[in-house]
Amino acid sequence: MSQTLSDIAKALVVDGKGILAADESSPTIKKRFDGIGVEATEDNRRDYRTMLFTSPDAGRYISGVILFDETLRQSAADGTPLVGILTSGGIIPGIKVDKGAKPLAGFPGEKVTEGLDGLRDRCAEYAQLGAKFTKWRAVYTIGDDGPSAACLTANAHALARYAAIAQEAGLVPIVEPEVLMDGDHSIDDCQVVSEEVLRTVFAELTIQEIELEGMLLKPNMVLSGADCPEQAGVEEVAKRTVQTLKRAVPAAVPGIVFLSGGQSDEVATLHLNAMNKLGEQLPWQLSFSYGRALQAAPLKAWAGKTENLATAQSAFLERAKANGAATLGAYA
Ligand code: 13P
Repeated sequence: MSQTLSDIAKALVVDGKGILAADESSPTIKKRFDGIGVEATEDNRRDYRTMLFTSPDAGRYISGVILFDETLRQSAADGTPLVGILTSGGIIPGIKVDKGAKPLAGFPGEKVTEGLDGLRDRCAEYAQLGAKFTKWRAVYTIGDDGPSAACLTANAHALARYAAIAQEAGLVPIVEPEVLMDGDHSIDDCQVVSEEVLRTVFAELTIQEIELEGMLLKPNMVLSGADCPEQAGVEEVAKRTVQTLKRAVPAAVPGIVFLSGGQSDEVATLHLNAMNKLGEQLPWQLSFSYGRALQAAPLKAWAGKTENLATAQSAFLERAKANGAATLGAYA
């Protein structure tokens, strides 16, 4: 029997596991490689991602991996397709399908995510290539008077159109509205904006009749701005984030998988752990879909050298295991 959208969504947020976001576009992975002095060639990208995906036991803590278009089509140096490496390790392959956040006309500094043109055909091909789920990211900046209504509605509309097309292709959509942590705003401001963003997104998902049981939400946590002189502590972040989600996210959604968004890896783990330790009966699983918070340590340990493979893989496993424990509120 074929898996339903709901089966796939639930498998991605099963107790003790979460998602690795390894879907950096070529320019973004170049930035990461620049940081370790490695040239961003196709082979280096392949070898780096092969290192992550072949980490022994990764499937104990990682339910799924979000890939970039190039990676979904790539094979490891020994010829094994990277998708095959994931599935044989019990990990579900997913794919980023948006074409990036572009300037929003008429609203300097704000962005709208593009990529709806041709999306139906891309989704059909991705399903053929073995992807089971997808991701689309919208970004919102907290400014003096932002985000604007134009930014809220344009992004919500695109997220819902994307989710409808993904579900039609049998792919679970991960709906990612990210309120950026850049800026000196307070945690209060982040909470207000995050709630408004989520309400707008779910209103549009409702209009476009998205099957809520067959999707996942990937939001930011409610945090103090990176440059805010007063930084909220771990418990405060956990409480405010859960409060905001309870106000705005329907109970039919099976899981919420946070992005790390520039938090340090340890702090991202502590926040998730604290939310799952609040002892509240929540309708959705709270898990992770981290990029930087899972990859910063292995990327540094790898440094582009084959001889560092085992050290890099154990650095990755350490973060994956810590976050797996945090989904249960059991990280010590
Ligand atoms: P970060 O965890 O590094 O924010 O990446 C998650 C992601 O997929 C952003 O789209």
